[in-house]
Amino acid sequence: METSQEIEKQKQYIEKVKEANKGKNLKYYILTMGCQLNENDSEKLCGMIEEMGYAKTEQYQEADLVLFNTCCVRENAEDKLFGKLGELKRVKEQKGTIIAIGGCMMQEKHITDKIHESYPYTDIIFGTHTLHKFPEDLYKTIQSKTKMQDVLDIDGEVYEGLPIKRTSNIKASVTIMYGCNNFCTYCIVPYVRGRERSRHPKDILEEVEQLAKEGYKEITLLGQNVNSYLIVEQWKEKNIDYQGINSFATLLRAINKIDGIERIRFVSPHPKDFTDDVIDAIAECEKVCKLVHLPLQSGSTNVLKRMNRKYTKEQYIELVDKMKSRIPNLTLSTDIIVGFAGETEEDFEDTLDVVKKVCFEQVYMFIYSRRVGTPGDKMPDQIPEEIKHERFNKLKELVESQIEENNQKYVGTIQKVLVEGPSKNNPELLTGRTDSNKVVIFEGPAELKDKIIDLKIVSEHMWYLKGEI
Ligand code: SAH
Ligand code: SF4
Ligand code: F3S
Repeated sequence: METSQEIEKQKQYIEKVKEANKGKNLKYYILTMGCQLNENDSEKLCGMIEEMGYAKTEQYQEADLVLFNTCCVRENAEDKLFGKLGELKRVKEQKGTIIAIGGCMMQEKHITDKIHESYPYTDIIFGTHTLHKFPEDLYKTIQSKTKMQDVLDIDGEVYEGLPIKRTSNIKASVTIMYGCNNFCTYCIVPYVRGRERSRHPKDILEEVEQLAKEGYKEITLLGQNVNSYLIVEQWKEKNIDYQGINSFATLLRAINKIDGIERIRFVSPHPKDFTDDVIDAIAECEKVCKLVHLPLQSGSTNVLKRMNRKYTKEQYIELVDKMKSRIPNLTLSTDIIVGFAGETEEDFEDTLDVVKKVCFEQVYMFIYSRRVGTPGDKMPDQIPEEIKHERFNKLKELVESQIEENNQKYVGTIQKVLVEGPSKNNPELLTGRTDSNKVVIFEGPAELKDKIIDLKIVSEHMWYLKGEI
């Protein structure tokens, strides 16, 4: 079946569920774990669920439908899910709540087996390739009160035209490609998200144009490896060239031209695919933020090789130097894993060395977590937990001292800030973010919400800056 026909079919199921739920005032609760891609998937799930007549609640106890969108990139997510499922048992018994679990973790057989065994009251299990079929799965569950499992092992298609309910009205995420072909040896994502598939440029441009019309100012382009956008099997023979778009760089340039959009971000690019045309596009497109997330993972060439990252310590540093020389005011953020199998003290020192040299604006630090089914899990010389924690703390100390130093450079400067609204910790104050994604807190009238304004930075605090109009 064509993907568009499949979506039409799901829209009919949406109508059927809506009809079945008429006048019942039903509520749903959703918990999203994991990355921005999963959050974007949840926005699509919320879009479908709200069209089916459910209103959102933050209290799972009062929900008629509870949905978990799961992540399995690190171990702690599993404990969290099983804890939540345990808590739901009583609620299910009292209320007959429908329990649905989707996302990356559901692509792992040892997890779905455990759910069948220990949490048999779960109603719907769906995977990453069947998200669009949620209306059909839900309808069948409501009608026949049977349990559903709808997980596909093969790669899904790219489905367009699902309803979407976004969490913000100024910042929006737009997925541009699905899946990953890189198979970094520590990572589960390629196994649970399948091979790389890019969306058609026309669908992406139309989505961004629509967002601009609705008043969105900031767009984040999402993918596990955004700079392999369109350079994948699926498009090779098709010779796609929609409005001159045939690569990630040309996509950035096209989005940069859309009126109304003021900021463009993207996550995550892979250093091995960071070609010169992308660097030029970032430098020349005024809306593309000059904060680039460039995942390092490790600073040791030995470890990078075992991780299958396909670049060396020196190549990473050369790339950073080239980017800094061509993109004025460039800042960088990164992801680092400590304690990967076989990481020696010397390897770890290499990571610290790269961090010292590059001086990142922000570092997302992770302790290596063994994932069943990945090559990393089977490697000898796994690092003991205490050493992983020691190294993590050492890295954290270095990163925090750099952030503090870095923050001082902001004091006295004028920054363009996209105002997001009242601060969560102090509703008297407003909060917003700089181009480099720093949080700025300041005093000002509520009408500034959703606007980009100039602020003078007056002081710095570890996790935020203070500004004045
Ligand atoms: N595709 C992106 C991000 C994928 S997951 C990229 O390549 O950068 C987000 C981050 O989680 C990764 O960058 C990595 O730092 C971390 N991560 C992935 N697998 C992990 C594991 N098994 N243990 C610890 N951290 C992991
Ligand atoms: Fe995982 Fe590597 Fe793919 Fe990122 S690029 S999702 S870290 S396999
Ligand atoms: Fe997690 Fe899946 Fe994202 S494993 S990090 S939610 S792609």
